[in-house]
Amino acid sequence: MTSKLPDDIRTPAYVLDVAALKRNLATATRVKREAGVKVLLATKAWAMPAAFPLMQDVLDGTTASGEYEARMGREEFGREVHVYAPAYAPGEVARLTEIADHIYANSPEQAVHVRDVVQGSGRAGIEIGARINPGYSNATLGGALYDPCAPNSRFGTTVAEIDRLPWDDIDIFHVHALCESLADGTVGLIEHVARNFAPYLKRVKAVNFGGGHFMNKPGYDVDKLIATLRAFRSEFDLEVYLEPGAGLVVDTGYLVSTVIGIHRNEKEIAILDASASTHMPDVLEVPYTPPVLDAEKPGVLPHSYILGGKTCMTGDIIGEYSFAEPLVPGSRVVFGDMMQYSFVKNTTFNGTPLPDIAMLHEDGRYEVVRTFGYDEFRRRLG
Ligand SMILES: Cc1ncc(COP(=O)(O)O)c(C=O)c1O
Repeated sequence: MTSKLPDDIRTPAYVLDVAALKRNLATATRVKREAGVKVLLATKAWAMPAAFPLMQDVLDGTTASGEYEARMGREEFGREVHVYAPAYAPGEVARLTEIADHIYANSPEQAVHVRDVVQGSGRAGIEIGARINPGYSNATLGGALYDPCAPNSRFGTTVAEIDRLPWDDIDIFHVHALCESLADGTVGLIEHVARNFAPYLKRVKAVNFGGGHFMNKPGYDVDKLIATLRAFRSEFDLEVYLEPGAGLVVDTGYLVSTVIGIHRNEKEIAILDASASTHMPDVLEVPYTPPVLDAEKPGVLPHSYILGGKTCMTGDIIGEYSFAEPLVPGSRVVFGDMMQYSFVKNTTFNGTPLPDIAMLHEDGRYEVVRTFGYDEFRRRLG
């Protein structure tokens, strides 16, 4: 896949591989058609408005983490706009009634607030969701850091509080309890919800099984997901939503970087114009070692290097890899699987330039969608 990237592109650059995105969207199309469910894009994971035209006919809409993402969903994507936050800031729900169709509440108090503002808004047709902490999770990443049902989690109304929700006004039962989960995780969640929450499911119009469905990961059993969703739908006769982020864009793009210096301290260290700290924060947060195209684990190929960024943060290390040829200033290093939770989370710490955002089209055309400069750094400092 690297060979399709032109040699002379400016780096660093996040590059969406359009053919790979289309391949992933085909899975979503199949799940929608065969399971009869709706699929939303969780824009917290990945949002590239320039690519939304590729998705608008496939997906049913977007799901947001608050007002700004909801506004982007409304203005740039269209279709259904869902929004959930653990709490809404003063005035936020009122503004959301202008842009969202589905507003989810985290607690009984938030649900009453959302209901009162929605009912007072005069805008008909807004559905109210309640996020429930189902007491079941299958987060495969990061331990408690990414487990929405970890002890003392601030996400979702617990069973102890569930009867305080204003159920007469709740339209959608919502759970989000997965993270990079394979089909067994989704199956476990759906069966748990069916077994433990049937009286509540009978009171709502729809259920939203959240995100974390890693449906495009190699080895994911899509047939099993479809069969489970179909069985659930036939038992409860409800509209069903899934709202994956990562699962829609896994393996659909790159962070392309260039070696800008070589340092030696017992090992060879290649300094890149890309940085874990500023451009791929999940590498440090999860933590994980991302794939590098045409590289192997250290010691496998003849030339091993630690790859690091140029920020002052000691831990700004991406990982250790080996290459067939020595790295020198100017060498290209391409990180794979760099769409989800990358540019939506990046920073300009140390004044590090933000990577270009670009698309590699199916015909090989390379299109830079946006570049960033000093202004981007300066403006955020007041
Ligand atoms: C409520 C909710 N929905 C959907 C998602 C998307 O999850 P993922 O990108 O793992 O599919 C998240 C992620 O944190 C979430 O909190």
